[in-house]
Amino acid sequence: MQTKSGKPLFPIGIGTWNIGGVFNPNDPTAKYKGAEPVYGNEETEIEAIRYSISNGQNHIDCAELYGAFYTDEIVGRAIVGLERTDLYIADKLWRTSLEKRLVWPTVQKMLEKLGTNYLDMLYIHAPFKDANWQEAISQIDELIDTGIVRDFGVSNFTVADIKLANKLARHPITANQMNFNVLHKIEVTDDLKVYCQQNNIQLIAYQPIKRKEVLGSKIIQTIADKHDATPAQIALAWLLNQNALTIPKAINHQHIDENIAAAKIKLSESDLAELDKEI
Ligand SMILES: NC(=O)c1ccc[n+]([C@@H]2O[C@H](COP(=O)([O-])OP(=O)(O)OC[C@H]3O[C@@H](n4cnc5c(N)ncnc54)[C@H](OP(=O)(O)O)[C@@H]3O)[C@@H](O)[C@H]2O)c1
Repeated sequence: MQTKSGKPLFPIGIGTWNIGGVFNPNDPTAKYKGAEPVYGNEETEIEAIRYSISNGQNHIDCAELYGAFYTDEIVGRAIVGLERTDLYIADKLWRTSLEKRLVWPTVQKMLEKLGTNYLDMLYIHAPFKDANWQEAISQIDELIDTGIVRDFGVSNFTVADIKLANKLARHPITANQMNFNVLHKIEVTDDLKVYCQQNNIQLIAYQPIKRKEVLGSKIIQTIADKHDATPAQIALAWLLNQNALTIPKAINHQHIDENIAAAKIKLSESDLAELDKEI
């Protein structure tokens, strides 16, 4: 995976879940799971995304669903004036956009919100049971043929789901985005790791920090102290050691700085052995 201008991705990207809150000011009916209207502080969020990019992060992880279908607009405002080809922008199709003739108009809306004319990666957000996600694949293939989408990604896919998607797709699957965390290893099975590695599919870890236990774990704190680091940094460094890329969401500057610096932490064999014991 690289940007259109040929730059490698900084291994710690920019998550955007909850940017903009969970309410769409353009569409009050688009509440996420019936949540109460909670807006984000857009100016702070835009500034944080720009701060992250100016400090070297170049992979932005979006999804049409985020912010009740509004977050993409905030990201679009954050990247105004920046060199687009140096950024790698991923977006995800929600279950309502996967079936026949839905993918193209959805991508058109994504591009309008983001203020761009191509996506670096288009994911199927999950192998939804209640949507025919397989129908999206030929449409994604066509979007790649036209250059509107560069890479095809899947998320929350098991090996069986990926095999099925691979059978249907003309273009290769570039990434699988999974819930993967030093304390949540269960979804990224050994089979999935091997399959992804053998098929050149990049694992991308979501929710690398969120689980409260990461910040409260004694073992992680002890290892963090040894490295003069924070538990969040150890959690990120562990993921990089698994050959995953990761996409923490951070608005606070101190968090952004810490996350970027985590890419330099080298965990020892004994650190890894301790962390591997944690569930
Ligand atoms: N594919 C999927 O199904 C899926 C599902 C969920 C998420 N995702 C993607 O994955 C991204 C990451 O997941 P997430 O946002 O749910 O969880 P996360 O990145 O693990 O956690 C975000 C939270 O951690 C805090 N944080 C960030 N850096 C920190 C640090 N160094 N120290 C302490 N706290 C820190 C943030 O605070 P501040 O914001 O205040 O800095 C925020 O409250 C999402 O934003 C989204 O792009 C994908």
